[in-house]
Amino acid sequence: MILGGTTEARRLAEALVGREDLDTTLSLAGRTMDPLTQPGSVRVGGFGGSDGLASYLETEAIDLLVDATHPFANRISANAAVAAKSANVAAIALRRPAWRTVDGDRWHLVSAMPEAVLALGSSPRRVFLSIGRQEAHHFNSAPQHSYLIRSIDPVDPPLQVPDAAYILSSGPFTLEREQHLLKDRDIDVIVTKNSGGSATYAKIEAARSLGIDVIMVERAQVADMLTFETVETALAHIAHFVSPAVKRGV
Ligand SMILES: NC(=O)c1ccc[n+]([C@@H]2O[C@H](COP(=O)([O-])OP(=O)(O)OC[C@H]3O[C@@H](n4cnc5c(N)ncnc54)[C@H](OP(=O)(O)O)[C@@H]3O)[C@@H](O)[C@H]2O)c1
Repeated sequence: MILGGTTEARRLAEALVGREDLDTTLSLAGRTMDPLTQPGSVRVGGFGGSDGLASYLETEAIDLLVDATHPFANRISANAAVAAKSANVAAIALRRPAWRTVDGDRWHLVSAMPEAVLALGSSPRRVFLSIGRQEAHHFNSAPQHSYLIRSIDPVDPPLQVPDAAYILSSGPFTLEREQHLLKDRDIDVIVTKNSGGSATYAKIEAARSLGIDVIMVERAQVADMLTFETVETALAHIAHFVSPAVKRGV
């Protein structure tokens, strides 16, 4: 079973569904209002914590759990590690590498969203919030800034600040489009999570090219699990895992 909600999970499921030696299920939290069509068998909704996930693994006789959730989906990843251990099920993680700074980047690193709010400072700024909708509410405590907020689904309830505009859109985004957006809206700082991957990296490049500050929320430490950074390396591990010699315990 693949815990998904990411492009990588989708790609992994796509690569596995055709295989006759595997029965693959993709699990989604069910957060997105209009999710993309997913390949193969899909289940939707939480399990009820790590205990619920552990019983699911046992009931469904899952042989391998793949945590391919978003690098900021910390609760499900922690639950996956605990549940796999208690149900004695093999588990791996598929997690794209974090972005790294390059020359010209003006990153200010923070470890959590409340810290990102403080890092904006007390003087009014024009902020591009590209953090998803779930944590946008933290910025209610800094109403002196103007906000442009981009998310896939609407921020609900909207921010309680005098100046907030919303864009509903999902990646991938191009450098040209991001540069245009930042210039057009006169943005002077971006707040983003270090999600990694290429689909939303253009805003980082655009900020670099325009000399715009980026407040970068770093990833939390995740539970210890054998981790692969690409779909291809995870696939190679899965191929080895299901090979007859491994199944016989050779
Ligand atoms: N956080 C982000 O920035 C972000 C960005 C893009 C995509 N996503 C995706 O959106 C989903 C929710 O993210 P989140 O940050 O809200 O997660 P989270 O805080 O780590 O998880 C909250 C709860 O949602 C349920 N859940 C999460 N992922 C699930 C999955 N793949 N299948 C079944 N249940 C799941 C679990 O409920 P129970 O405890 O009841 O099992 C979990 O405890 C994840 O699938 C993630 O990959 C997250």
